[in-house]
Amino acid sequence: MPPGALSHYPDGHVLYRRLAKSFPKIVRGEGCWLYDDTGKRYLDASSGALVSNLGHGNAGLAKAIGEQAARVGYVSGVAFTNDAVEELAAEFSTLTADGLDKTLFCCNGGDAVEAALKVARQFWAESGRPEKRKVLSLFPSYHGNTLLALSVSGRPAYRKQFRDWLIPVCNVPAPYAYRCACRGEAEDCPACSGSALEDVLLQEGPETVAAFIAEPVGGSSTGASVPRDGYWQKIREICDRHEVLFIADEVMVGAGRTGTWSALEPYAVAPDFQIFGKGISGGYAPLSAMVTSRRILDVLAKGSGAPSHNQTFSQFPISCAAGLEAIRQLKAQGLIERCAQMGEILQRRLAELLDHPHVGDVRGRGLFAGVEFVADKASREPFEPRLRFADSFTQAAQAAGLAVWPNSGYTERENGDLVLIGPPFIVTESEISELVERFRSALDTAIAKIR
Ligand SMILES: Cc1ncc(COP(=O)(O)O)c(C=O)c1O
Repeated sequence: MPPGALSHYPDGHVLYRRLAKSFPKIVRGEGCWLYDDTGKRYLDASSGALVSNLGHGNAGLAKAIGEQAARVGYVSGVAFTNDAVEELAAEFSTLTADGLDKTLFCCNGGDAVEAALKVARQFWAESGRPEKRKVLSLFPSYHGNTLLALSVSGRPAYRKQFRDWLIPVCNVPAPYAYRCACRGEAEDCPACSGSALEDVLLQEGPETVAAFIAEPVGGSSTGASVPRDGYWQKIREICDRHEVLFIADEVMVGAGRTGTWSALEPYAVAPDFQIFGKGISGGYAPLSAMVTSRRILDVLAKGSGAPSHNQTFSQFPISCAAGLEAIRQLKAQGLIERCAQMGEILQRRLAELLDHPHVGDVRGRGLFAGVEFVADKASREPFEPRLRFADSFTQAAQAAGLAVWPNSGYTERENGDLVLIGPPFIVTESEISELVERFRSALDTAIAKIR
């Protein structure tokens, strides 16, 4: 195809992820920038899907993967162990909360979510309490697209067609201050304070509940909503009192993205399972991680003898080598600290967009921000779903050379439009300025289109 020709269904042989969209072809990346086959450059304001945390064209990551592949590419995790997985698991044990020092490496976030849910159920069954099997999760929320991960995801639009294939899961209202009736202001609000978990637990019968899964800072479904101080301490205390395992899904917000390795760190709370994904390999190989403790695994060791969630590419050496190099760079270059510092600049600069009549809210922590669009600012009324505003903004942004991560349809009424902003941790102040300028001009274009 000639340079600049856009790829779209049904031409060619790729099953594209959007069948009504045309795709420019990216041929190379460097730092925070992607280049297509015409030479046009795009500022990657969302690190793809919050993945390329260490920037594009990363020579150290390419080298680490090549060296591991040259030594040994694949070994079965059922028969053997390997240096890369041993060293990476040891690194994780120094980064996660005390006691969380056993890691299973998988390939995708949803994969690691399923691993945690299954091990949680195994734990109770093998402890002689098989009646503890229900799972609670937040609404709205997102934990992945495979059927168990989708079952625990509070995203009606994604679940609709598969409802009869999903397991029943009870939802607890998410701490989503902007869309809460109390607007985040009532101290005793059940959703914003966390006490709603106990209400749902008591309805369900805590003796039947195995686990509660949640994102420590809201991801795609609540657009970087940060729960108030004390929220996760309260959740931990409720889980402990009712013997419910707490699974922290940090696939989007962990690995430094919010300015600390774990997004739970500022709350000083340790979960029973911690899940990482997306950015942990810098986007150079598919890698996710399910971290847990001996308290959980000793029960399995004396019982069935194995976690039941295993796959061909669990503990894959090449992905683990990428993960090791990513952590080496984070430490050597102080990139998590940099993420916290540049995050303050990003949040301040994005807040300037609040003067726009269709920007309802800007929020987040570190280099992780959500910008929520509204049709009417005073009532916080979202755009009509038929307008697909987040998608049309993203198209306008792409045309303006800015790549962002859109989300829509996450509220109970299946409306709501937001974009997530999360540039690589190496972003500079002048790139942040460029990001905000391109954002504003794309927003004006997208609004002009629906008028
Ligand atoms: C919080 C959270 N958990 C799990 C997942 C699923 O990850 P994956 O798409 O790698 O399966 C995602 C993906 O966006 C996510 O944001």
